[in-house]
Amino acid sequence: MKKDYILGTDQAELDRLGFQHRVWSEDAFSLWKRGGVRMGLNVLDLGSGPGFATFDLATIVGATGSVTGVDISQAYVDYGNHQAQVRGVNNVEFIQRSIHELDLEHGRYDVIYCRWVLSWVNDVDKIIQEVSKLLKPGGVFLVQEYAQWGTFRIEPERSEVRAMIEACRESWRVMPSEIDIAPQLPAMFHRFGLNLELKATIEKVSSPGEMVWQWPTTFLHLYSHKLIEMGLLTEEERDAFVRCWPEMEATPNAMIITPLMMEFAARKT
Ligand SMILES: C[S@@+](CC[C@H](N)C(=O)[O-])C[C@H]1O[C@@H](n2cnc3c(N)ncnc32)[C@H](O)[C@@H]1O
Repeated sequence: MKKDYILGTDQAELDRLGFQHRVWSEDAFSLWKRGGVRMGLNVLDLGSGPGFATFDLATIVGATGSVTGVDISQAYVDYGNHQAQVRGVNNVEFIQRSIHELDLEHGRYDVIYCRWVLSWVNDVDKIIQEVSKLLKPGGVFLVQEYAQWGTFRIEPERSEVRAMIEACRESWRVMPSEIDIAPQLPAMFHRFGLNLELKATIEKVSSPGEMVWQWPTTFLHLYSHKLIEMGLLTEEERDAFVRCWPEMEATPNAMIITPLMMEFAARKT
């Protein structure tokens, strides 16, 4: 198992995840709707983080349903449980577990949702096998993960930005996990009795000033510190990137194409 989760779990990353969920929540709600998430269901949010998607799922399943968020980070789990308490949400709980040792009741869940988690862990086939056991017959696994991170593109091309993106890509390459995990998942679904009902690509194009633009902006600025720590970016390269970003944003028709993702719904037969 990978020892350190590469993106970290501090307050800045927690805030980033909150913003990230706002940017992508329309896509999440859309998949949940097409996958049949509705009142009264028992849902597991695998690698839930602090619970931004988890609480939205809880509003859909209502008081007669339940949502369990599972994450390896105790800080995120504590945050989620605290939020549930202060908001008076009774159908959500967060528990601290590794995705590799879930130790949850088999056949309990109608829906298992997983977003931006399988790219950061190894032994994904074992995880899918366990997901299949955790689902009720007829239950559905809903996934949104990276398919081709290298499609991330920022126009106009600037060498300062290119250096940042290449450093990110190098950091994914040195991880023991596979960032572009999504295309490998359907074969695993088939192996473990999950029938693929829906497959689609998802990506966004944005211009400066739009909310989507802020998503990669925040990520690159935050992650640059990690890249320096990892020895994949120099302080000078980061400074050059930070200096050039506002200039790039001021360029007419500047554009970001987000990394290609895929989404799936796979039902237990
Ligand atoms: C990019 S965040 C995504 C969080 C959430 N799924 C979302 O979409 O907002 C990845 C999450 O995976 C969790 N994670 C990483 N490795 C894990 C593991 N081995 N077991 C359980 N959770 C893990 C991290 O703590 C983090 O909360």
